[in-house]
Parts: sequence; C-alpha cells; structure tokens
Amino acid sequence: MDLHIYKSKLEKQIGGTIKISGAKNSAVAIICGCLLTDEEVILQNIPNIYDITNLINIIKEMGHFINLENNTLFFKRNKNKKYKFNDSLNKLRGSYYLIGSYLGFMKKILFKQCGGCVIGKRPINYHQQGFRLLNVKIKETKKGTLYKTKKLIGNLIKLQFPSVGATINLLFASVLAKGNTIIENAAIEPEVTDVINFLNSMGANIVGQNTNRLTIYGVNKLHGTKYTIIPDRIEAGTYLAIGCLKPNQPVTVTNVYPQHLTSFLETLEAIGHNVTINHDSITVSMGKTLSPVDITTSPYPGFPTDLGPIITTILTQVPGTSTLTEQIFENRFNHIGDLNKMGADITILNNTLIINGKTVLNGGKVDCHDLRAGASLLLAGILSNKHTIIKDIEIFKRGYEDPITKLKFLKIVTSIN
Ligand code: EPU
Repeated sequence: MDLHIYKSKLEKQIGGTIKISGAKNSAVAIICGCLLTDEEVILQNIPNIYDITNLINIIKEMGHFINLENNTLFFKRNKNKKYKFNDSLNKLRGSYYLIGSYLGFMKKILFKQCGGCVIGKRPINYHQQGFRLLNVKIKETKKGTLYKTKKLIGNLIKLQFPSVGATINLLFASVLAKGNTIIENAAIEPEVTDVINFLNSMGANIVGQNTNRLTIYGVNKLHGTKYTIIPDRIEAGTYLAIGCLKPNQPVTVTNVYPQHLTSFLETLEAIGHNVTINHDSITVSMGKTLSPVDITTSPYPGFPTDLGPIITTILTQVPGTSTLTEQIFENRFNHIGDLNKMGADITILNNTLIINGKTVLNGGKVDCHDLRAGASLLLAGILSNKHTIIKDIEIFKRGYEDPITKLKFLKIVTSIN
C-alpha cells in the first residue's frame, strides 16, 4: 500500500487537533508482561497498530487468550506447555520481551532472533548478561536460542548502557525471582516507568522508578489488573512537527503528557517556534524568526533518537546550518537519501547530519525504509505542496494508528492499494 500526499488546493493553511494513541513501546512490553500472571489482565489505551496485531497473533499461536477491542485488550494466559516460538517473532523487535516474561512464567523459552526496524545492529547481549546473573542458562541450538532456569534468583545487575529493552526484560525476569534484584544504570524512559507501574499494579514490588537504580523485591505471585497505557510521546512529536512546517497551520495534540516531551519542545522553542502547553494538550505553530540549532540524541530525558528523523524535516525549513548527532543507533539516517531527492540539502558526516536550510521540497516517489524514516518523509510530503508518494507504508503503520483519519484536517493525505 502506498501513501499519497496531494498538492493542497486550500488557499489558506489550516490547523487541526489530533488525539494521541497509547504508546507503542509501552504497549508491546506490557502485553508481554501479562504472561506473568494466570489471572485476567485488562489493558486500556492500546494502539491498534501493526506491531500490536503482530504481537497478538504470536501470543495467540502460543495458545493464550488475547483479544483487542476498541483499544482495550483482554488477556488470560493458558498454562499450556508450549515454549517454542516460530518465525513470526521476526515481525517485531519488541517480541524479545517474551524472553523475560516466559522465564518468569515457564522458566524456559526457545526463541529465534527478533525483527524490527533496520536502524542498527541491535544486539541483545545486555539482556543476556542480565539473564545469566539471574541464574538463566543460555544455549544456542539449531532451532534458536534456548533460555532455561531451574529457579530465577535475584542479583545485582550493572547495565553497560541504560538500554530500554534490557531494563524491561530484566524487570520481567526478576519480579518473580527468589530474593532481591538491583538494576544499576537502568533506563528511565517513560515507557520503562509505565512498565514498572503496570507490574506494581499486579502486586510486584519495584522501587526507584524514574531513577537509574531499580530495586526489585521478588514476590511469589502476581495478580490480574486493569491498567491504562501512557500516551505515545513519539506519535505526539511527529504530529506536532506539522505545526512547524508552514505558517498559520497550528497543530494541537491531546491526550498527551507534556512532561514526556520536554527536550523536544525546548528544541522547537530554541528554533523559534511557538509552543503552548496545557494540562494534557500541546499546541505548536511556526515562529516568525527561525534560527538553526545543534542537537544530540541521548537517553531520556535527552533528545529522543526516535524524534531525530522528525526534527530533520523541520530543520530543512530553518535558515542557516543545523546539526543533528545521533548517539543511540548506528543507522538512523535511512530517510536522508529521499529527503535530498526531494530537494533538501543534508550531508551525513559520520553520525552527524549537517542540514542546510531553508530548502524547497518537491514531491516525488520515496521509500519508507523504517518507521521514523517514513514519518520524516510524510512530513516532507505535507510540506512539499506537490504530489508525494511514499511506497510501502506498512512499515509506517507498525507504529502510527490510523494516520489517514488523524490527518484528515489537512485534506491531502490518503492511502491507495
Ligand atoms: N544495545 C546493545 N545491546 C543490548 C541492548 C541494546 O548493544 O543488549 C544497544 C542498541 O544496539 C542501541 C542502544 O543500545 O545502540 C540502545 O538500545 P535500547 O535497548 O535502549 O533500545 P531498544 O530497546 O532496542 C527501544 C525502542 C526504540 C527506541 C529505543 C531508545 C522498543 C520496541 N523500541 O529500543 O524504538 O528508539 O528504545 O529509546 O521499545 C521506535 O519506536 O522507532 C524505536 C526504534
């Protein structure tokens, strides 16, 4: 399926309001965490995106009851003996959370390499080092990697890097372990805190949320819960970017936690854009005088790597030379070739982008190489005011719920098979 963005026939630009969905990276993890209890779990604000439907299918194949209706997910685990996963795991990166939750649930899992966006090597060695410290044996077999433990035992784990995935996976493996676990240098992204709040609502005993040192007091059992996922800060940032592309096109996002977007919003203000923050909504509009900025991505609360491709499109419209240095993933510049093809002036120097603005972006046919690269090109298409076709938007739909409806106010975005 291709995404078409047409030339606007409107004489005057118009703004719009977009309701933000639940956070993809919280939801993927928390759904896997439901396996840690044999009681029913109800999750609200689950985004209806491809990563979630793929995960639901994987979990269904394993024999568990899982159903998503109107953004509410019902989950009841089945005590069957299956622990071998098939190739469908490759469809999403977050399926690696099944390792931690299956270790807590069945003490073993046979797991094949997980998929996800091609934005870097993305090894899971930190996860594995932590599992081993929790008394897990890891063995490579012809059918995949076998993770097995007789008993999970708490330990002190010092992460080499505050990895979001490793922190969450080790939380899953340690909540039901014997004794206490300490995770040092833990990630503090809002999605990690969301997972901690979810597990605590099931009877886990985790302290230290929002700090780099988590203490997990092992408990014998977790119970069912009803839990609401936090809003998706990256989806919010993506749509707010539209407000920065053209004058008189303010965009308001609702159902957001503005504090999760502090570094992004401060950067928009440093460029000269107008940002208005309310209790659970944010409005952004293009400023009159814009100045270039130098940005470096880093773990939360720093500038998020996932918003790097988004801010890149914004910076093509800022006079002068801006830079964006990417510190988290090795291959986050998949969109640059296409942006340049559309008329941008961006040079890649090692892990830094040098963005010369302001450039006129023309339409054209471009590729959606990864989720956020696709989002960057969507913004470029909205900006270009010429017909833009983004091929294979399936990747984009992995992380954005119903973008066509949400962008209806622009009257130019549609998808065609
Ligand atoms: N890393 C290792 N070894 C590990 C784990 C991570 O070397 O065992 C490296 C990674 O290769 C990367 C860095 O550490 O260079 C950070 O990786 P992290 O583990 O924090 O990222 P992740 O858990 O793989 C999640 C999100 C990403 C988001 C990052 C950073 C999910 C499913 N993915 O990835 O989201 O960019 O945290 O915030 O939660 C996206 O939504 O577009 C996306 C890529």
